[in-house]
Amino acid sequence: MNIKKTLLKLYLKLFGKRSFDKGLINSMESSTYSEFCKKVYGTDLCQFNMLDTEQLEKLLELLHSAENKSILDLGCGAGIISEHLHHVTGAKVTGIDFAPMAISLANKRTVNNDNVIFLEGDLNNLTLPNEKYDYIIMIDTLYFIADFHTFIQRLLSALNQDGQMIFFYTSRIDKNNANNLTLPDESTLGKVLKKADLTFKHWNYTENEISIWNNTSKYAEELKDNFIKEGNKDIYKGRINETKIIARSLKKKDLHRFLYHVQT
Ligand SMILES: C[S@@+](CC[C@H](N)C(=O)[O-])C[C@H]1O[C@@H](n2cnc3c(N)ncnc32)[C@H](O)[C@@H]1O
Repeated sequence: MNIKKTLLKLYLKLFGKRSFDKGLINSMESSTYSEFCKKVYGTDLCQFNMLDTEQLEKLLELLHSAENKSILDLGCGAGIISEHLHHVTGAKVTGIDFAPMAISLANKRTVNNDNVIFLEGDLNNLTLPNEKYDYIIMIDTLYFIADFHTFIQRLLSALNQDGQMIFFYTSRIDKNNANNLTLPDESTLGKVLKKADLTFKHWNYTENEISIWNNTSKYAEELKDNFIKEGNKDIYKGRINETKIIARSLKKKDLHRFLYHVQT
């Protein structure tokens, strides 16, 4: 089973839509999770991803000219990263996620800022506002897409002319079976982008991800008692369960993480 399917199965089993929501809300309200994020990612943005400070800085570099432009953040989770992108770049940011309470809370947080908007929506049945975007970003959310080809075509139709797509995406690629293609071309995303005649630049963040997984188990264990005292044992358990699944891939060294930057 590939990593996308394994993680998808795990997330849907552990979380499902409602539990994703619960997990996001609990994490947002947990001071221990803030501490965990600072230790694991280098900054607290209530992350549910494999995006450390180095990758975040690269994302901001790619968005350097986003002032007065628009960003669509698909699968925005708690929306704190979306807000951060707005504050740093000056862009108008729309975040979409299917977790209703997380979206409602994100909207309450940003009620006085018309330039940060959150919408509830299912990425596999995407209804977008009647506007186009300069950037579409997805941070560790492509794993939940059922049909990549249809989805990418949908994103293209929502982009302004010269619009850009930025994806952080990890996949399991067996180097021995790769068809003489470079690794980013071998992922499901890479193949679909190529088929759609979309060229992309890529950056390899596999080592960053390995370090994040190592730190996830290290700091989840270190903070275990604090999670329990807060009544957030589920956050601890969720993070530890993820690391157990990933451990197999880390051992086989077939886990590869890339940032894909598509300029249309
Ligand atoms: C791994 S988390 C990443 C969250 C956020 N992008 C981040 O970097 O912290 C995946 C997110 O995708 C959302 N999600 C999963 N399936 C979805 C779907 N079908 N439609 C909309 N959102 C979905 C989850 O609610 C969750 O917030």
